[in-house]
Amino acid sequence: SQRRQVDEALSSLKLTQEHLGYVKSRMRAGLEAGLKSQGPSPVKMLPAYVYRTPDGTEHGNYLALDLGGTNFRVLLVKIRSGLSRSVRLYNKIYAIPLEVMQGTGEELFDHIVQCISDFLDYMGMKNTRLPLGFTFSFPCYQKAIDTGTLVSWTKGFKATGCQGNDVVDMLREAIKRRNEFDLDIVAIVNDTVGTMMSCAYEDPQCEIGLIAGTGSNVCYMEELSNVEKLHVPQNGKEGRNGGKVEEECTEAQAKDVIGREAGEEEEEEEEQSGPNVRMCINTEWGGLGEDGCLDDIITPYDSAVDRDSLNQGRQRFEKMTSGLYLGEIVRQVLLDLTRRGLLFRGHVTEALKTPGIFHTKYLSQIESDRLALLQVRSILQQLGLESTINDSIVVKEVCGAVSRRAAQMCGAGMAAVVDKIRENRGLDHLDVTVGVDGTLYKLHPHFSMVLQDTVRALAPQCQVTFTLSEEGSGKGAALITAVARGGPARS
Ligand code: BG6
Ligand code: GLC
Repeated sequence: SQRRQVDEALSSLKLTQEHLGYVKSRMRAGLEAGLKSQGPSPVKMLPAYVYRTPDGTEHGNYLALDLGGTNFRVLLVKIRSGLSRSVRLYNKIYAIPLEVMQGTGEELFDHIVQCISDFLDYMGMKNTRLPLGFTFSFPCYQKAIDTGTLVSWTKGFKATGCQGNDVVDMLREAIKRRNEFDLDIVAIVNDTVGTMMSCAYEDPQCEIGLIAGTGSNVCYMEELSNVEKLHVPQNGKEGRNGGKVEEECTEAQAKDVIGREAGEEEEEEEEQSGPNVRMCINTEWGGLGEDGCLDDIITPYDSAVDRDSLNQGRQRFEKMTSGLYLGEIVRQVLLDLTRRGLLFRGHVTEALKTPGIFHTKYLSQIESDRLALLQVRSILQQLGLESTINDSIVVKEVCGAVSRRAAQMCGAGMAAVVDKIRENRGLDHLDVTVGVDGTLYKLHPHFSMVLQDTVRALAPQCQVTFTLSEEGSGKGAALITAVARGGPARS
């Protein structure tokens, strides 16, 4: 019957506890492999050169950029320490047109600098050379807090001439080209790291950052002794162009330099190079599966989404778990059901053939339990899809299956991360907070619940609290900038 065929199609999206256990253990293997590997690996495990979470002594005025999520923002962040401890944000959102996201790197950075210029005019701050923290939500290979080579674009970006280049240099050059104002670019920060820092400012137990938004990613505090691939500058050696010569180094050398780079006092250096020194790692867990390790749960719908994406074959975990792709998976399932005559009276309309029509926003609305089926029908109608009540029931089920799988997979990944931290510290039980941000987490009616239930089931020895980051990663980027500029020891 029709019903049975629909159920069959949906069953490929259902994951058993056993499947989820596999996802957890593959994520764990991915984290370990990424920490060890000098070369490329699906889970990149990128050192972020952030050694500690904020302690409330940070202060000053900072500019922050936030590029790579739904909105591009420029922010002024005012941080106060001591009794009047507070963080105040002033920000403006700017559009990045598709042709700029996918044009040339120069055009992209010129556009960014134009937005900064507008913001500085708006704030009346063109003549102050502010320190800048740059949230750049893409995988960057860093050799220090203020350098970042773009490994590869992800999500919807594809500007030419950026991959393999230092994006901080590209930003500096664009500022020079404009020749209107100057900035001191102090830190480049992934959005996961910014989110973790932002939440850690309120809650010292926050040692993990999670983004469930346009993309999907996690960062966490890892033992320095497990990070085998750190790059640090060789002491005092200068390159021919006056730049520092950077080479691979031993862990002991790394600790030595880190102790001093962190601007700590002599006595504290002892502690810095002790066994408990940690560094934040941007996992880039979205890359899991690039080696085929998720093939047993990847459906033909996922393969179709991957085939139509800007980065085919890459970010397979991200393509099953994040906002940019969930609507596309839903569309592929609906296309299949319609072609088989099980939906929309078998009419494959132009609307259904249009990539990107199902934004996270619509999935979230369709799945809201407060919504009557008639309202689901009217949402579908807005999208150009004429449906019967029966169609709307099926569409809601499809959305439910796709988003539930996404939340469960994120939960399984998170279970791997928290158990790794717990084992790192030799604990039977770990209490930890995850700072979270992203439109999927914030807008979807069930995502966060399913995520939390899955973590609880798969990591029973960890008590994991999820805290929503209220101010986005701009605040975190400013806090990192404050620490990187010398931190409390120098102020
Ligand atoms: C925001 C951060 O709060 O969350 C962004 O400031 C980040 O940098 C974003 O990328 C993730 O959410 P989304 O859904 O906009 O991709
Ligand atoms: C993508 C990016 C990653 C970012 C995530 C969430 O996975 O590669 O750097 O953190 O999206 O925005």
